[in-house]
Amino acid sequence: MSNAAVSLAETAKTNSLDVVKVRKDFPALHQQVHGKPLVYLDNAATTQKPRAVIDAITHYYCNDNANVHRGVHALSERATAAYEGTRDIIARFFGVPDNRCVVFTRGTTESINLVAEGYVRPMLKPGDEIITTQMEHHSNIVPWQILAEKTGAVLQVAPIQEDGSLDLDATLALIGEKTRFVAAAYISNALGTVNPVREIIRAAHDAGARVLLDGAQAAPHKAVNIVELDCDFFAFSGHKVYGPTGIGGLIGKMDALEEMQPYQSGGDMIRRVSFSGTEYNDIPYRFEAGTPNIADTIALGAALEYVESLDIACIAAHEDALLRHATRLVSGIPGLRIVGSARQKAAVLSFVFDGIHAHDVGTILDTEGIAVRAGHHCSMPVMERFGLPATARASLALYNTLEEMEALAGALEKVRDIFGA
Ligand code: ALA
Repeated sequence: MSNAAVSLAETAKTNSLDVVKVRKDFPALHQQVHGKPLVYLDNAATTQKPRAVIDAITHYYCNDNANVHRGVHALSERATAAYEGTRDIIARFFGVPDNRCVVFTRGTTESINLVAEGYVRPMLKPGDEIITTQMEHHSNIVPWQILAEKTGAVLQVAPIQEDGSLDLDATLALIGEKTRFVAAAYISNALGTVNPVREIIRAAHDAGARVLLDGAQAAPHKAVNIVELDCDFFAFSGHKVYGPTGIGGLIGKMDALEEMQPYQSGGDMIRRVSFSGTEYNDIPYRFEAGTPNIADTIALGAALEYVESLDIACIAAHEDALLRHATRLVSGIPGLRIVGSARQKAAVLSFVFDGIHAHDVGTILDTEGIAVRAGHHCSMPVMERFGLPATARASLALYNTLEEMEALAGALEKVRDIFGA
């Protein structure tokens, strides 16, 4: 057994996460790419799916395929029960006692657009302020820019410090009597920084403003209790937490959801329609117009149950060990610089090589079977902040191993040799 294998076994024991066993649940991991075993390190873009998720989709289409909330027949009842079951699972997963606070959406982007248009827009007056941060994904920037343009509100941006952490003092200084809304990432997809969201939420509430957390990168890596966090809205995507693409959620406090206007309208979001006036359906259905993505919603429930079965605290400990190991290994490579070394980090290693474009790094890693993302990671303001066109990013998941971190470091040595850096 190699040293790496020994330490993998030790890590697995310490964290009670049997990675060798867990990897068997993910069919896509067991393939060769360019003649090398796949090392999948593009998990912040999307995660691989466990068999339970794939089976849930197949089971639905093979057995229960019917529309929800409508039919009186057996298939529709089964489909509705499984579909609504995911609402219960999401509520439990994020520590929310009332499942009516869970709104199904296509994902984080749609959740943020729903809040921007349905909740924030109706309250804004010219000169009001929305606060976001410099480390947001574009999906938590552009909706607020559009809103500011339409309403005359002002978008304030909290800055990032040199180490990739949020400048908390500057952030808190921005929050004041003009602040109407704060929208911030819990964990940065480009840097891995875990933000001090409790302090931000407290300050925003003291100023009478509500807060949305972009939880896309938090959901797979961290135990999240929305009630304890006390955020008003929490957005997440299923495909980043081992579920399918095209399904995710918005979780809101009931009093905030009661103040929110529907963003899309049509079937399912109404109780009664007449040309003399239309009455909206109850929360959350009033925010879920049209036939939903039933199969993927059911499979999202399977994904979250899978994560629950492994225990998110064990997953977090395992990923933290991987990140520390990878950071140590790549820090020793001449010419390589890590972008983002905040003390609180999760699952992301972004880096640049002197004189080598990130896309070239990504392409050479691919020839070694290693999948990373190279580019701006949908976070161009982060690149601007660090004066970079792009970074290469290795992002981790529960099924990654210490050996894979060593394969990454070995392949990066090859990149350096090829370019003579
Ligand atoms: N938000 C995704 C990423 O970080 C697409 O790669």
